[in-house]
Amino acid sequence: MMAGHGADAVGGPARHIPVLLDEVLAALAPAAGDLVVDGTFGAGGYTRAILDSGASVLAIDRDPDAIEAGRALEREADGRLRLVQAPFSELDAHVATADGVVLDIGVSSMQIDQAERGFSFQRNGPLDMRMGQAGPTAADAVNHLPADDLSRIIHIFGEEPKARAIARAIVAARGEKPITTTAELVAAIERATGRQRPQDRIHPATRTFQALRIHVNGELDELVAALHAAEEVLRPGGRLVVVTFHSLEDRIVKRFLTARAGKLPAASRHVPETTLGPAPSFTLAYKGHLGASPAEAHANPRARSAKMRVGVRTAAPPMPDMTGEILVSATAGGRH
Ligand SMILES: C[S@@+](CC[C@H](N)C(=O)[O-])C[C@H]1O[C@@H](n2cnc3c(N)ncnc32)[C@H](O)[C@@H]1O
Repeated sequence: MMAGHGADAVGGPARHIPVLLDEVLAALAPAAGDLVVDGTFGAGGYTRAILDSGASVLAIDRDPDAIEAGRALEREADGRLRLVQAPFSELDAHVATADGVVLDIGVSSMQIDQAERGFSFQRNGPLDMRMGQAGPTAADAVNHLPADDLSRIIHIFGEEPKARAIARAIVAARGEKPITTTAELVAAIERATGRQRPQDRIHPATRTFQALRIHVNGELDELVAALHAAEEVLRPGGRLVVVTFHSLEDRIVKRFLTARAGKLPAASRHVPETTLGPAPSFTLAYKGHLGASPAEAHANPRARSAKMRVGVRTAAPPMPDMTGEILVSATAGGRH
């Protein structure tokens, strides 16, 4: 077994506990000689377990810190692990064929727990939020975007009912002084929402922080592109396993796999569901999604909102690109 499968996993003190690990492994069913793409290396929890099965792994992460922390494991794996710093939307540029692709969407515990990365409303730090540590930051967005754009981002990506008021409060606050820290952003949000009351299930800044993170990292575009890229590289019988943590992402995965399995609802009830079109490029491993067991949800609160969906690649060629359609239907709040 690879070292660090347990308590000494890479990533320093803020250790990331892999979510749905047993379920992911069962779905991927990696075997010696297989090549699996782990598009979200993080602390390497999935990658280690896949390596233990005898398969090789191409592990991708856009965060240079995650890649750096994984170098020791790469050396240990004797040529069976290749680490690449890249966005997972580009996975097909790094591999021609694969037996499995796994994506565990979102941020790692290391990223959340490091105040200087600016992901957490509970830790004061620079308002950054860039997983890849390059390009515009969350501070750039809140200080420069027009109020309407901010409101739309917070409404769509955060599914925040008070988006308009929060955007106005941000614009008022930045008129006094640029917002450069997470604490200053929390204070601006609280001008619109008030402080968290005992009866509030979540902190008033939760949805706005989620929205800005999705915006800064182009997360929905990344996910849709990665699903299409996985369809390109997977061999017939290869598995696509995706774990998501909020409804926007899950809707995207569901929409993609349902369409790719030829199971989109008919546009009209007068049209039969099975009209002739391109052959399905995936079958569904099971109907719907899998979530964490009560024991895992109890042990790891992060697992509570996890949803896993699995597609099995057919021998049919990739189906036509449906990026625009998926993004529109996912962000329109449609539940398909
Ligand atoms: C939830 S963690 C993955 C944890 C991992 N499965 C484990 O067991 O340790 C998500 C990781 O994916 C990376 N990530 C998120 N979106 C990405 C993207 N579009 N391209 C590449 N990496 C991404 C993040 O930087 C983070 O390290």
